[in-house]
Amino acid sequence: MVKNFDAAVIDAVLAHMNDDHNDDNLLIARANGYPDATASVMADLNQDAGVWRAEGPEGTREITVAWPSAPLTERPQIRRDVVLVYQAACKTLGVPAREEHKPAADANPHGEHGGHGHGGHGASPHGHGGNPHAHGGNPHAAAAEHTGPKPFSQVIRESSWGDHSDSEGATFMEDIMRGVATKQDYIDLVIQHYFMYVALEAAATQLATRDDAELLHPAALVRLPALEEDLEFLVGADWREQIAAVPATAAYAARITEIGEEGWAAGVIAHHYTRYLGDLSGGQMIAKRVAKQHGFDDGRGISFYNFAELGDLAEFKTNYRTVLDSLGDTLDEAEQKRMCDEVRQAYAFNTQVFIDLGKQKAARAAN
Ligand code: HEM
Repeated sequence: MVKNFDAAVIDAVLAHMNDDHNDDNLLIARANGYPDATASVMADLNQDAGVWRAEGPEGTREITVAWPSAPLTERPQIRRDVVLVYQAACKTLGVPAREEHKPAADANPHGEHGGHGHGGHGASPHGHGGNPHAHGGNPHAAAAEHTGPKPFSQVIRESSWGDHSDSEGATFMEDIMRGVATKQDYIDLVIQHYFMYVALEAAATQLATRDDAELLHPAALVRLPALEEDLEFLVGADWREQIAAVPATAAYAARITEIGEEGWAAGVIAHHYTRYLGDLSGGQMIAKRVAKQHGFDDGRGISFYNFAELGDLAEFKTNYRTVLDSLGDTLDEAEQKRMCDEVRQAYAFNTQVFIDLGKQKAARAAN
C-alpha cells in the first residue's frame, strides 16, 4: 500500500516547489509525457511518486512520476529525488541542469563550513549534510542561464540550508508541525521568541539609518508588540513574571546584543535575516498548524506571525534578497564568509533552543 508523508511535510514541499520552482515543474511535465505543457504545478506526493498537474493545448493533465529511489521514507529523501527527477527531465529535454542543485557543501563558494560555538553551550552547527536541493526559494536561482557571480542572497541560502534543515527537523519543532505538541509547548516557544526579539529588535534599531532601511527593517516587521499581545493572551496579565529564557535563548540573545554593541551591521543583518525570513516562510505554516490545533481562530495567540501590514510577503522577501545582494557587493570575501558563518550560527542557536525546550519539557514531565 502506498503510504503518505505527514500533511505538513507534503504542504511544505508543494509550497516550496510551487513558489520557487515553477520552471522546474514545467520541465518535469514536458519531459514526462506532456511536451507541449505551458504551465505546471506540483499537486501531490507520496512515498512512491510525485504528481504534477500541467496545463497545455490538450487541457489539464495529471502526471505521476515515480521517485527514482522509491519508496521514500524520510523527508530529506524527497528533496534528493525531486532533484533527480528534475535532472532526468533536463537530460530528456537536452537542457543543462542548474548547478545550484549540487549539494550545499559544493555550492558554498567559500568551501569550508565554519561553526564557532559562540555561547559555549553546544550550539555549534552539526550534522548539516549537503542538501541536494540547496537554493530553495531564491528568485535569482530561477534564472537557469545566470552566469556572473552568484547573488549574495543565494550564497547565504546555499551555505546555510543544511543548518535550516537541522532547525526545521528538531523534534520540538517537528512535533509542533505534526500537531502532536501541547499548547504549553507552543507557549514555551512564544516565550523564547520574546527574549530573542528583545535582543534582535534592539540591535536592529541601528539599521534605521541605512538607505535601504525601508526594505530591510520597516515598522511593519517589528514583532515585539505582537509578542507582548500573544503572551498576555496565552500566559495572562502577569506574563512578565511568569516567563524565563532557556539557556540557549539567553546565549542567542547575548550573541545578538554583542554584535549590536560591536556595531557589526552585517552581523546584525545575519541574525535579522535568519529570524524574519524564517517567520515569513516556515513561520506562516507554523501559525496555520497551531491555529488549527489550538483553535486560535480570531488570530489571538498567533499575532507574532501576522504580517498583514507588511503587504505581499513574497514581494517583501524578494526585495529583502535584493538588499542582501547589494550588501554582498560591499563586502570582501572574508566579510561575506563571516556573515554566512553568522547565519549558520543563528540557525545553530535556534536548533539549540528547540533542544533546550525539549529538555525543559522532559524535566517537567519527570516532576
Ligand atoms: C517547521 C519548521 C520550518 C519549516 C516548515 C520551514 C520551511 C521553510 C520554507 C518552505 C522555506 C522556503 C520559502 C521561501 O524561500 O520563500 C523557508 C525559508 C526560510 N526559513 Fe524556514 N522553515 C522552518 C523553520 C525555520 C527556522 C526554525 C528558521 C530559523 C529561525 C527558519 C529560517 C528560514 C529562513 C531564513 C528562510 C529563508 C531562506 C532564503 O530564502 O534565503 N526556518 N523555510
